[in-house]
Amino acid sequence: MGAEDSAPAARLSASPSPGGVDAPPQIRPATAADACAIVDLLATIGVEGTLGVDPSTLRVDEEAARLAHLDLRTACALVVAIGGLVRGFAVAVRGTEPPIAHTATVSVAVAADSRRRGCGRLLLGGLSVWARAAGLSKLCAGVVDRNDPALALFHRAGYAVEGIRRGQLALGGRLADEIMFGLRLQPFPDGDGLRPRHTRGTDGRRRNA
Ligand SMILES: CC(C)(COP(=O)(O)OP(=O)(O)OC[C@H]1O[C@@H](n2cnc3c(N)ncnc32)[C@H](O)[C@@H]1OP(=O)(O)O)[C@@H](O)C(=O)NCCC(=O)NCCS
Repeated sequence: MGAEDSAPAARLSASPSPGGVDAPPQIRPATAADACAIVDLLATIGVEGTLGVDPSTLRVDEEAARLAHLDLRTACALVVAIGGLVRGFAVAVRGTEPPIAHTATVSVAVAADSRRRGCGRLLLGGLSVWARAAGLSKLCAGVVDRNDPALALFHRAGYAVEGIRRGQLALGGRLADEIMFGLRLQPFPDGDGLRPRHTRGTDGRRRNA
């Protein structure tokens, strides 16, 4: 990161707060002008070790360029602001290969001092609105198994656990399981054609779930 990235926590708290810290959170599309605040935010949250990306690799100029050229058919980036300050960020990126082009992968992060105020839920709700408008059938997310707030958030937002990838993530020098979440949004255009899911009873026979 460059010199402008040297004091993320200080820069986050130094800006004016026109609506006050008690103002209700509001979501809006992220713009290139938000790049600095987003990189700061992710750098601060990154030390918690729950994000799937390494925030130290993020650069303000690259993030600004990415946001300036975001194609809404393939991605959505939202911020949540409280009193005019960016306190959270969420992004959904559509699958690039044909078999997964009806899906998008979601990630969300909210500043520690702004949690449990509905920011995460607002951001996930906004991504669902975008995904429906973009014609997607499904949103997906992967969450570290020890990340109880995120597990609770995705459950609360209606996502279902679809699987567990054992030892998928190497975080803080140890392996962690990744919980895979999915949210079905709308039927696949030609019908989803999914086979019924089965579980096995204690007699070993398959049963419809
Ligand atoms: C996960 C995270 C985004 C939640 O953001 P948030 O703004 O605090 O979430 P919300 O206030 O919208 O919470 C919505 C619901 O999620 C659940 N929830 C969120 N945090 C929770 C917690 N710490 N404990 C229990 N439930 C929690 C609750 O059901 C909550 O509803 P309620 O407050 O009415 O009970 C935030 O903790 C965060 O940024 N963590 C670090 C980054 C991260 O882990 N991102 C996820 C990886 S994709």
